[in-house]
Amino acid sequence: MSAGVWMQEELMELALKRNFLMPSNEIYGHTAGFYDYGVVGAAMKRKLENAWRELFLWREGFYEIESASVLPEKVLKASGHVDNFFDEIVECRKCGVAQKVEAGKEELKCQKCGSKLDAADAKRFYLMFETRVGGAKENVAYLRPETAQGIFVDFPRVFRALGAKLPLGVGQIGKSFRNEIAPRQALMRLREFTQMELEYFFNPGEAKHAHFKEVAGKRVRVMSAEAQGKGQREVREYSCSELVEQKIVPNEIVAYFMLRTAEFYEAVGLKREKFWFRQLLQNEMPHYSKGNYDVEVETSYGVVELMGLAYRTDFDLAGHAKMSSQDLSVHLEGVGRVMPHVVEPSFGVDRLFWALMEQSYRKSDTTAGGVERGGAPSRDWAWFDFPPIVAPFDACIYPLMKKDGLDEAAGAVARELRHEGMSVYYDESGSIGKRYARADEIGVPYCVTVDYESLKSKDVTIRYRNDGKQERVPIKGLGERVRQLILDGKTSL
Ligand code: GAP
Repeated sequence: MSAGVWMQEELMELALKRNFLMPSNEIYGHTAGFYDYGVVGAAMKRKLENAWRELFLWREGFYEIESASVLPEKVLKASGHVDNFFDEIVECRKCGVAQKVEAGKEELKCQKCGSKLDAADAKRFYLMFETRVGGAKENVAYLRPETAQGIFVDFPRVFRALGAKLPLGVGQIGKSFRNEIAPRQALMRLREFTQMELEYFFNPGEAKHAHFKEVAGKRVRVMSAEAQGKGQREVREYSCSELVEQKIVPNEIVAYFMLRTAEFYEAVGLKREKFWFRQLLQNEMPHYSKGNYDVEVETSYGVVELMGLAYRTDFDLAGHAKMSSQDLSVHLEGVGRVMPHVVEPSFGVDRLFWALMEQSYRKSDTTAGGVERGGAPSRDWAWFDFPPIVAPFDACIYPLMKKDGLDEAAGAVARELRHEGMSVYYDESGSIGKRYARADEIGVPYCVTVDYESLKSKDVTIRYRNDGKQERVPIKGLGERVRQLILDGKTSL
């Protein structure tokens, strides 16, 4: 078995056992393309989303909206989805299985029975889930295929509410839906998934970024279109100024968001050497785009697109202006009327979640092929090396034993930390060693244990996940202490 398949099976087993993930509707046989997040998975997904909110939106002075998931046909007609959002598929004449026609593949074979497929049989398979609003048959609507369109149609009100100024960043985290013909590869191709999207509206006459200086000398890893044109998939480091000067990106804004994107991925635990921006080739870009860059990451499933950064120009606002007969241009002091342009960083949460699980997975078992081993020689269990800011829980709280008042004292510590706004997991079942192992298996960075000494001295031990070492700290100020450890990203004593 290849290292990749081995990892996928072992990771999924652990994800199911420890309630990261659950196949949706499992008792009815699981509908392909849908996964539920369990108590551990949902907690961690929320942390990832909050990290993006803080690092990508709030730190930049951007705001977030929450728009409807069901969109009337006109919205998606204006965005081009109704007419253009389809895959070419061919149905096998022998076994009836439909599959996607991949561009560039000459010989088509059925993935199920191996029969030769005829490209002449190709037809369009529309990717949006269609529904009706209310009783009227003509009220066609769709589940949104991206969160972005809600931001575009809400733009006029948000713009006015925020002081009628550009640039303006509006973000959204929410579910998107695509009726993928072949959902597969765990969380990589789902029919319902979460996106975190930012639409950055700016005056096209001033395609600059006020804080570009902060990033100008910093470097990002990019696979340029030029390199790909020469048949190379070479990834090179470029400073943000080089990207602008060499016209690999159309303007400072795109380079700025590239750098912030890379910083976000590293902050939540992706290894710098495992992802890069790939500049899309001219024939891969939508006609209105003035530049598209995908973050690609190495996974056990091969190279996967994690997010897309696109210079969408005024395509969406102009399309909605035409369809709605509303003027969506804005008046800017001293400039006059302008149709804003948009740069869009569009992240998928689920793919990031899985990529992080893969990259953070550690085993001390020396027989484990293809997986990096963590530096905890005395242990023989699997664990996740998540950065504390995205670990499912901030800390686990344990009584050494479930007796002699230790459980009540540990319960009080857990309550206190919860009141201070921390996410803690309380557990009193089984031996303390097994509970430490369970905490490691879900990647919790700190275990706080209340023992007999604690009752006398009012202190507890903090055990660090990555080296298993412990220190004694007073109960008073424990919340503050753990919060500081999380901020410092400390995972060993
Ligand atoms: N608004 C632009 C947009 O939606 P996209 O490249 O189609 O662009 C952005 O999607 C991100 O959403 C992708 O990079 C990926 O992370 C995620 N995504 C898209 N389709 C997905 C699917 N079927 N399953 C899981 N994630 C998906």
